[in-house]
Parts: sequence; structure tokens; C-alpha cells
Amino acid sequence: MARIEIQKKQDMTYENPKLILAHSALREGSIMWKSPSNLAIVKYWGKHGQQLPKNPSLSLTLDTSFTQTKLHYAPRKVAGQDISLSLLFEGQPHEGFAQRVKQFFRKILPIFPFLKQLDLTVETQNSFPHSSGIASSASAMSALALCCCSMEDEFFGTLDEDEVFDRKASYVARLGSGSACRSIYPYWALWGETGEVPGSSNLYAVPMAEAVHPVFHTLHDDILIIRSGTKQVSSSAGHSLMQNHPFAEVRYQQARKNLYELINALRTGDLEAFGKVAEKEALMLHSLMMSAPSPYILMAPHTITAIERVWAFRKETGHPVFFSLDAGPNLHVLYPETIIHEVRPFVDTQLAPLCEESIYLQDWAGEGPEQL
Ligand code: DP6
Repeated sequence: MARIEIQKKQDMTYENPKLILAHSALREGSIMWKSPSNLAIVKYWGKHGQQLPKNPSLSLTLDTSFTQTKLHYAPRKVAGQDISLSLLFEGQPHEGFAQRVKQFFRKILPIFPFLKQLDLTVETQNSFPHSSGIASSASAMSALALCCCSMEDEFFGTLDEDEVFDRKASYVARLGSGSACRSIYPYWALWGETGEVPGSSNLYAVPMAEAVHPVFHTLHDDILIIRSGTKQVSSSAGHSLMQNHPFAEVRYQQARKNLYELINALRTGDLEAFGKVAEKEALMLHSLMMSAPSPYILMAPHTITAIERVWAFRKETGHPVFFSLDAGPNLHVLYPETIIHEVRPFVDTQLAPLCEESIYLQDWAGEGPEQL
């Protein structure tokens, strides 16, 4: 009984002091993963404890927006208790990001204690322009989590089953950035405990592709870069503003209701019901920002114009084209592959001119991370 409980606890935290390398096993090598960004349709907004969500979220895994990360390791030259890490972002040193990765590695040291036996070099780059305003934390943190799990498996052979590997990678990614835990799975992923999905958890995401109608495996997401650059209020700050938010409890209830509607829409292939949830969630996210104890606005005037144009196009043509928003001004235009020839000319002529330098990124439902 006692042993089972210890095992359960270990499964919960993945902390494992035994993952220390014998001196003779220390060697040099590298691991490389490409991991995508994702777009939450039902949003994670509000957290507590160790990166635990206040409500479950469900996202579309993207394809062309990804981070590629190489983790090089070598036996440590100078012993020490802290992580030994250097980092190159797009070929250049990047102090801010290096600090964030170091913090993340410190946090996951009890899970991967062998990290402190090695000199680590991270080389990372994004497929999207780094000033594009696309949040890179989901792709970046999931790529790092995958590299650490691969390293563990190479050294100790402990993660050879895909399901076990993915779950641990998702758990670890969550500690880097909540939304990152959903990037581990192809097409669709759910993070957060809900009675709607057996096996769902606040600790890691679970795959949803099999519970989704094929039409949603072809979903396009054209990302309008309405305004590039760093946003004034980070997602982390936004999450903390939910703590004293007057609408917090109502929001968490609404998110659960929207999740229920979304799961049904995804299962049955109901594009209209899907779009309704996507748009209400996007607008609710931004209305939470505008009604926060210290209010702020992340939409730009062109975001609103783009929304109006999507609504007008849908009304005129009847085509199932919808939008979503992340915590920023860039509009995500969502539609199934079947109507791409009708939608692209609309995006090119009516939406692209609203973008900075007329740039938009063409993305779609993706197959998930890949080891390179
Ligand atoms: C609006 O995952 O970036 O994109 O856990 O603090 O790193 P941290 O936050 P983050 O928040 C994402 C917020 C969101 C919605 C979502 O992706 O679910």
C-alpha cells in the first residue's frame, strides 16, 4: 500500500532523485525538436498554484508556426549546483530569454536532476518573425520539454512508450508555460480536468484528435499580423489580474459551458456551433482584460475592422469563416479547407491591407511536434 502511494505521488510530480548519471555514463551529444504553437478556442485565462488552470482549455495545434530547438549537452567542466546554460536565439545571445529558460530548468531540476551534471547549450529559432506578436512561449517551452524528455530517455531508457513520453513532456511543458502543454499533441488537445473527457487533468494535456470530426483536421488559421512587437501586458500579468477580477467566477463557469458546446461541435462536425464558441471566447477574453481591476486593451482599431469584415463576409456569402484572438491584437481567421478558394481572395483583398506591412501568416491544423 505504502509503495503504491509513493509511486502515485511520484507520478503526480515526476520528481525522481534517481535520475543521476554515473560518471562513466556522462558524454556529449545533442537533441533537436520542432514543436508547434497552438491556438486555444476555449481559453486558459486565470491560474493558481503551480501553473494550474482555473478552467479547462481546448486548442488547435498549428503547423507552420513552430519553434525549432537544439539542446546540446556535454559533461560539466566546472561542478556546481546551479544549471550551466548558454543560449542562442536565432543565432544571437538573448539575455532575457536565457534567463527565462534558466528559471524553467531550475524549476524542473527535481524532475531531471541530471541536468546539473551537464553544460547545456540551447539553440532556438522560430518559424515566424520574432517581432510578429505571435506568442512563442507555447512552442518554445514545449520544444524544451521534449528535448529534456528525449535526453532522459537516451540516458536512462525510461520513456520508451509514446504515451508515457508525451504525458511527461506535456506535464513538463506546462511548468514552462501553461499553454505549452497542449502543443505536444496533433490537431486538438485539451488541458484541464473536466467530466466531459475521462482521463483529463490539470497537470498535463490529453490528445483530442480522435474525438474530433475530420472537417476539423483541415481547419485553416490565417493569422493577421495587425500589430507586431511586444504587448504592453504579458499573459502572465493577465492571468494574475484574474485573481481579483469581479467576473472571475462567472468566467470560469462560462468557460466550462463553452467547452461543453465546443466538444460537441468538434465531435459532430458542426462548424456553425464551433464558430460561435470560438468568437464568444475571443471576445470574452478581451472583455476580461477591459474589465480587469487595472483595465487594459490589447485589440487595435484594425482588429475591430477585421472582425466586422469577417462578419460581413459571412453574412453575404454564408461561408463558415470565423475568428479567434489570443492575448493580442492579431486576428486568427478560421475556416475549413473546403472553402479555401473562396476565402483566400477575401483575406488577400480585405483583411491583408489591415495588417502591418500587409503580412499575414498561413497556418492550419498540424500533426504535432517532430524530433529532428
Ligand atoms: C490567451 O500559457 O502564455 O493564449 O502559463 O503564464 O505562460 P503562462 O501563460 P500562457 O497563457 C496563454 C493565454 C492565452 C489562452 C490560451 O492559450 O489558452
